[in-house]
Amino acid sequence: MLIDKFGRPIKYLRLSVTDRCNLRCYYCMPEEGIKFIAHKNLLTYEEMLRLCTILVKEGVEKIRITGGEPFVRKELLFFLRELTKIKGLKNIGITSNGLLTAQYLEELKTLGITDLNLSLDCLSEEKFLEITRRKGLKEVLNTLELATKMGFKVKINTVVMGEKNKFELPALARLAQKKPIDVRFIEEMPFNGGEEHQEARLWTHQNIKDFLEAELQAPLVADIFESTAQKYSIEGWQGKIGIIPAHSRTFCGSCDRLRMTAQGEIRNCLYAGKGYNIKDLMRSGATDADLLAYFQQIVSKKAKNGFEAENRSSGHDSMSIIGG
Ligand code: GTP
Ligand code: 5AD
Ligand code: SF4
Repeated sequence: MLIDKFGRPIKYLRLSVTDRCNLRCYYCMPEEGIKFIAHKNLLTYEEMLRLCTILVKEGVEKIRITGGEPFVRKELLFFLRELTKIKGLKNIGITSNGLLTAQYLEELKTLGITDLNLSLDCLSEEKFLEITRRKGLKEVLNTLELATKMGFKVKINTVVMGEKNKFELPALARLAQKKPIDVRFIEEMPFNGGEEHQEARLWTHQNIKDFLEAELQAPLVADIFESTAQKYSIEGWQGKIGIIPAHSRTFCGSCDRLRMTAQGEIRNCLYAGKGYNIKDLMRSGATDADLLAYFQQIVSKKAKNGFEAENRSSGHDSMSIIGG
């Protein structure tokens, strides 16, 4: 078991399989993109499977596949098929922008992978183009509709960007009215690969809640706290509204997470400024026991919360490297 010095066991791995993406979201990376990882520096699927197997043996129960956009990496389904074979792994989830996802839903379902978090920050074409700097809203909505019909457990991730998308929020929330979809509004974090967006600081959990209540003219009734999100219910609605205080970081006390980037860095906190390079250790001939010892060392340095994270990030990282 991997346990940090605050007694928190590590049960959840967030695995970024690529830093590449077919969108350029305002809150994630600059329009021109970032300096993407060279192919030879990416972990191969075999290497990822080896590391995941070690972690699952040590108590990791859930792996969430992130990116960049996971489905832009070739042969992702091959990898997922192999991942499902790891004994002891109870849950695999995917966080995707939904552009290429629809064509894989059948196979995902066959593999038993039905936890799908979809990024969606607006419902109008012009806004989509403004925020993501690419086209593709139709494809995302198609993925959403199909996935819901097929019984996937869909959660929508909406990053709150103040003036940029605040008037889109009520319509997004209403997606939870008639369908069992959870819509989660996220405090924007300073991981856009550039300068911190100052307006983001104003949109705290409480401000988002107040805004939604006023716009929807309905009280948000506190429900369970699930993973990163405070869930709220609205009378008569099928899905729940969630607010993720990702920048306020009020949920760090129950953090059970470790992150692995596509280039084989292990990060013990989303806000940690750097990761630990496990790829070079592995490629130098390390045994599984050596790798486990390194994981133990990394976990032992996990900070109490994101405010105290190691080498705290200057805010210039792109989320597509860290994986969210
Ligand atoms: P579940 O596995 O469904 O619980 O999903 P999740 O909410 O952890 O993951 P998802 O990839 O959908 O991320 C939703 C938002 O939560 C993104 O903005 C993530 O960056 C943010 N997030 C995920 N984990 C953490 C964390 O440990 N700390 C902080 N501050 N934010 C996080
Ligand atoms: N702040 C908050 N959330 C972000 N995401 C990406 N960048 C940011 C950011 N700067 C979210 C996206 C995606 C998830 C993995 O992370 O909504 O769904
Ligand atoms: Fe791509 Fe996700 Fe970053 Fe948007 S948030 S640019 S969809 S990796």
